[in-house]
This record gives sequence, C-alpha cells and structure tokens, in this order.
Amino acid sequence: MERIFYVTTPIYYVNSEPHIGHAYTTIVADFLKRFYTLMGYDAFFLTGTDEHGDKIAKAAAEAGFSPREYTEKISSIFKSVWSEMDLSFDDFIRTTEERHIKVVQLFLQRVYDAGDIYFGNYGGFYCVGCERYFTEKEMVDGKCPDHDRKLEYIEEQNYFFRMSKYQQWLIEHIKQNPDFIRPERYKNEVLAMLESEALEDLCISRPKKRLQWGIPLPFDENYVTYVWFDALINYISALGYPDGDRFKKYWPYAHHIIAKDIVKPHGIFWPTMLKAAGIEPYRHLNVHGYWNMEELKMSKSLGNVVRPKELIQKFGDDQIRYFFLREMTFGLDARFSESAIINRINYDLANDLGNLIKRSFNMVEKYFNGQIPADKKDSSDLKVLKEKFSVAMEEYIKNTMAYRFNTGLEQLWEFVRFLNKYIDNTKPWVLAKDGETEKLSDVIRNLLESCYAVMLLLSPILRNTSEKVIEALGMKGCGLNENLLTLRSLKEGYKIRDIGILFPKMVKEETEKMEKSEARQTTTVAEGLIDIKEFAKVDIRVAEILEAQLIEGSDKLLELKIDVGTDKRTIVAGLAKYYSPQQLVGKKILVVANLKPAVIYKRTSQGMLLAAQREKNDPPILIEVSPEIPNGAKLS
Ligand code: MSP
Repeated sequence: MERIFYVTTPIYYVNSEPHIGHAYTTIVADFLKRFYTLMGYDAFFLTGTDEHGDKIAKAAAEAGFSPREYTEKISSIFKSVWSEMDLSFDDFIRTTEERHIKVVQLFLQRVYDAGDIYFGNYGGFYCVGCERYFTEKEMVDGKCPDHDRKLEYIEEQNYFFRMSKYQQWLIEHIKQNPDFIRPERYKNEVLAMLESEALEDLCISRPKKRLQWGIPLPFDENYVTYVWFDALINYISALGYPDGDRFKKYWPYAHHIIAKDIVKPHGIFWPTMLKAAGIEPYRHLNVHGYWNMEELKMSKSLGNVVRPKELIQKFGDDQIRYFFLREMTFGLDARFSESAIINRINYDLANDLGNLIKRSFNMVEKYFNGQIPADKKDSSDLKVLKEKFSVAMEEYIKNTMAYRFNTGLEQLWEFVRFLNKYIDNTKPWVLAKDGETEKLSDVIRNLLESCYAVMLLLSPILRNTSEKVIEALGMKGCGLNENLLTLRSLKEGYKIRDIGILFPKMVKEETEKMEKSEARQTTTVAEGLIDIKEFAKVDIRVAEILEAQLIEGSDKLLELKIDVGTDKRTIVAGLAKYYSPQQLVGKKILVVANLKPAVIYKRTSQGMLLAAQREKNDPPILIEVSPEIPNGAKLS
C-alpha cells in the first residue's frame, strides 16, 4: 500500500471566531499530519471556512457588514489563529473562492446530467443553526435538539438530489467496510438512521429571491445551492477535482475528522453525493465527541467560550496539544477544565517525562562531563529496555492510527515511568561511588537513548520540547528509522547541551486561584455532583476471586468467594451469562467492601464487584487490576 495520507477538518462557519472546539479538531488533524510525515508518509492536511448560506448572511447583516466583507474578516481570523498556533495545514479552502465555485457547479451539472437531480415541491422543518431539514423523528418537541430552537416550517419549489436511490448501496458499503465510520458507536448511529426509515431525497437549492448568498445552480440561475451540498465538496475542490494531480494522489486516502454534531451530512449526504457523481467514497470518517465546560456545552450564549490563543499563552502550546490528545477519548465527550490541564502538566509532563529527561541529563553532566557515554555492548538491561520500548512504540503507532490517541500515549508513558523506575533501581549514584564505571556508562547511555526515542515519537505533539531535547542530543533532523528500535542512535562523546526546565510546574498559588474561579463556574452545575467527603465513604478495594460457582435455580447469579485482604467473604454477582466460573477464579477485581450485606438466594452477599458496560444493554466487563496490587489495597 502506498504511504499516502490525506486529512481534513470540517470547514468552519464564519459566524463566530475560533474557539477550543474548533481548535481541538484542527490540532488532531495537525498531529496526524505530522505523525504520518514522521512515519514516512506523504501527508496532506486541509482546513478552511464555510462561508455561504442563511446563517452567514444573517450573521453578516447583524454585524452590519455585507456578506463578502464579513466572511473575509472572520475567515482571515481563522487562518491567522491556526497559523499563530503553527498548525501545519497545506491548504486553506474558502467556499467563496472561484476554484471551489467552479467545482461545485461542475459536480452539480454531472449529477443533474445523470438524472439524479429533479425539480419538485417541498415542505419541511428547517433549522438554520444546522442548515438542514429535520425529519419528524429527529425533532424534539418541535425543536432541533442541538440548538434548542423552534424549527421553521418552509415550503417552496426546489431542486432535489435523489439520495434515496443510494440508501441500499450505502448500507452495504458501511457493512462491508466496518471502519468507514468510526468509532463504532457512530457507525451504528448512521446505520440505524439508514435502516430505520426510507431516506428522503435531499433538497439542494434555495430560490434566489429568498437567499442570494450562495453558488448559483449551473442549470437554473434563479436558484443557489444548498449550503451543505456546497460545503462538502470542499474536500475535493481543494485537491483540484476532477483532473488535479493532488486529487488523483490524495483522494483515495481521505480521512475526514468531525465532531458528532455533523455526522448525518458526512455519513449520509456526502457518500451518496460522491456515488452519484461517480467518485470513490472517502476512506474514513472519524467522529469525536464534544468538549463540555464542566458538563455544560460551550456556547456564546452561556458565556463560557474558551479561545485557543488565550489557553496557549497561559499554559504553553506543547502542553495544550498534549492535554487535548491525552485527555479526550476520541468519540466520547470530555470535560474541559483548567485544573485538568494543570494536572496533566504537573503529573504527566513535569513529574514523569520532564523529570526523567532532567535526571538523565544531569547525570551525564555530573559523571561524564556532559558527554554521551560509550556503548558497552551486551548489556542485559538494554535487552529489557529494547523489548519494553518496542512494545510501547508499536502500541503508540497502532493506537494513533486507529484514533485512540489517549491509549497510545498511555502506552508510551508506561515506558517513561518504567525508565524512572530504572533510575531508582540501578541507582547510578551508588555505581559512581563504587567506581563501577562500565555499568554506569551503560545505564546513562540507555537512558539518553530512551529519552531520544520517546521524544522523537512525541515530536508531532511536544514539538518545541522535542526539538530542544533532540537538538541537545545532537540528533537534529535525523528522523525516524528502524535504527530507533536498537536504542543505539546517539553519537558517543557528543557534548550535550543544557535544556533547562522543560515543563515548569504550575505554581500552587495560581492553581488555587484558578480552582476558586472554577468553583464559581461550577456552582451552576453542582446538582448531581458529590463532595469528595461523600466519595471517601465508599471503601473500594482490590480483591481476588478464590472460588466461583453457579447458584442453583438461577441462570444469572454466581456465588463468589473473594479475598479482600482483611477477610475472605462471599458475594453474589449477576455475571453467569457473561463469565463462566472457571474464567473468574484467580482474577483480581475491585469491590465495594463496605456495602450493607444483602441476602440473595439464601446467601449473604457482602459487597459488590465493579464492572462496566461499553454501552447501555451491552454485556458487563469486569474491571480487573494488575496482579501486583495486593488484596485489600484501597482505591484512593
Ligand atoms: N460548516 C460546517 C461544517 C462543514 S464541513 C463540510 C460546520 N461548521 S462549525 O463551525 O459549526 O464547526 C463544527 C465543528 O467544529 C465540529 O464538527 C467540531 O469539529 C468542531 N467543534 C465545535 N464545537 C466543538 C466542541 N465543543 N467540542 C469539540 N469539537 C467541536 O459545522
């Protein structure tokens, strides 16, 4: 397979300035562009702005500008914010550009000529916020669930795209390509929409007498194109469809990244449009969740919009990129708070990674006069480190390619934490005192090589810090190759440079100040939250399952004998349909140990085990813990 990668963000509406929601998607795309480039791919990254339609025309009028002036102004803000954040887009498309308009008209003409666009009458409920009609099923109390706004009933003569014709094809395409839409929950969402009812044809025009701010239909000058039909085509117009070299090269490798708000246009309108125009579908649609401000959705009306530039100024851009990628499970919503950012900075970056590098560099200075020590061959430590690193690297790459960024990073951090332990266990200061120079040389070399390898893999995220460390080690511009796995890339005798403090810890004072201001924010959402003291009452412990058997007369319940450290006891668990008794014996699990005993099927159950479900109604999965943790250890 050719090593080519094409990544896109949604083109953002220009009715407001960029906020962290937009920044998240664009940062993910930037990360992937840099990651794939590091992996030796030819990668192309597209972003841009969506500038036509009712919504933009209204926003321009409200701001007292003509649509052209207004879109020019906001679009250039988007472009300059992304540039200031050093996001590596290769092209920035605006739907008001001539190159885009031409392609939209060509596309429309093709579909029209193929007989898939017809003229008809339509009445339906329209949401200006989403710029689309809603079916009865999708409405909630006559409102759009996303914008909480009453839907407008609009009836007029318009042009329609025969979307229904491609419904069956799309169902099959999704089933045959299970990762066409991912994560799975969104694939299921789209399939449910497609399988539950007949698709309506898509209204793709607006009469000019009602809306002028759009692209004229090539076959009827009294109409302009519907904004989604216009917007989605950006993904190919920017590549120079139909004949452009970029289109030919990159389109077969297209990855779209969007949030859950625009799944229907991307998961249904776009593939059927492509099919009708005789173009291959995109490769993957990757859907993430929403960043919520302490449970609330971020919005202008709630006054809780966070601007990316301010964040970066406050915390640093490496830090923010790391936070975004590490904190959110791609596909699920995440909570945004400054204290969560500070935790990631202080624990992951300063304590784990920063400390490892600082300690290693300090020891080179102290014991080897700042020079990279010699390679003493056949070290058994090196064998172990190489094995650990190879697993970490493989997992990081695999998970990143599957959009499980947090899991990938966690795997790399396991290696980082292992290296910190390696310092504690080998005690280089004792080796130095005892004059064991060969061993000392080995340990320090292993550490420096490992730091280099980790920082190279993190360079698409921790761009500044990686560059600093890699340069200090004399490896600027060396890139990624097979050699990295040998943990022998550095030049012996190279005099390393000082790197200072890589990730300053956020000072306490500031943390407190921020927590107070957050506490103020959270008072509005305090309902349903519990105080830490209440949580502390729950005694969750590690326990080992010693025996397990099916309870006679029940097909659901198992009787388990468990060791909770302080004592051995019985609990009854409803797991029989999902786990056999043999599967359970020996597992280390978590139990709530201080629940009031309950009598179930004549047995006294003293506690409850913890399990989780992927989705409601899915089978429970036991929460297992590492066998290293002793029975009775308390969760805190
Ligand atoms: N113009 C359309 C997209 C057309 S693409 C052919 C549009 N624009 S938008 O400005 O509303 O951007 C929506 C996108 O912004 C989301 O899909 C997501 O990528 C990003 N986000 C906006 N708010 C967000 C959060 N609160 N959290 C995460 N991402 C969010 O829809």
